[in-house]
Amino acid sequence: MKKTKIFALAMVVFALCLTLISPVMGQKKSTGKKGGSAASLGVKIFNRECTACHPGGTNTIESEKTLKADALKKFGFTSVADVKKRVENGAGVMPIYKDTLKPAEIDAVANYVWTKSQKNGWPK
Ligand code: HEC
Repeated sequence: MKKTKIFALAMVVFALCLTLISPVMGQKKSTGKKGGSAASLGVKIFNRECTACHPGGTNTIESEKTLKADALKKFGFTSVADVKKRVENGAGVMPIYKDTLKPAEIDAVANYVWTKSQKNGWPK
């Protein structure tokens, strides 16, 4: 009799643990799943948020301020951290993203832009 009670109690505790854990696991799945790596998250965010004004690393609004290495250097972007700051805080017409994108998304898109520029990866 006692054993069944302990078993039942254990099952309740076990079920409780599952309910507590599953939302956390679900969340992880939804951020990590599509695209998988941070690099592909960067592409995804760039295509969704940035191509309107920066197609192929250009700038349709202020044509000098492209995402290419020479322009970035000229306008004071010396590392991925500088790109990240610009994405977080925007500038002029460029929107502020720190409230709409998650930190991981900002990281990913800044890394994508920086890597593309440094590898001369934008279309000529
Ligand atoms: C509504 C148009 C618009 C969108 C959308 C936009 N930008 Fe911009 N971006 C601009 C403009 C305009 C500038 C120039 C701002 C300035 O310095 O006055 C700029 C500048 C930049 C610069 C600095 C370039 C340089 O050579 O000075 C970076 C880096 C950048 N954007 C990255 C991004 C990223 C990454 C995204 C997407 C998360 C994005 N932008 C979305 C309009 C936009």
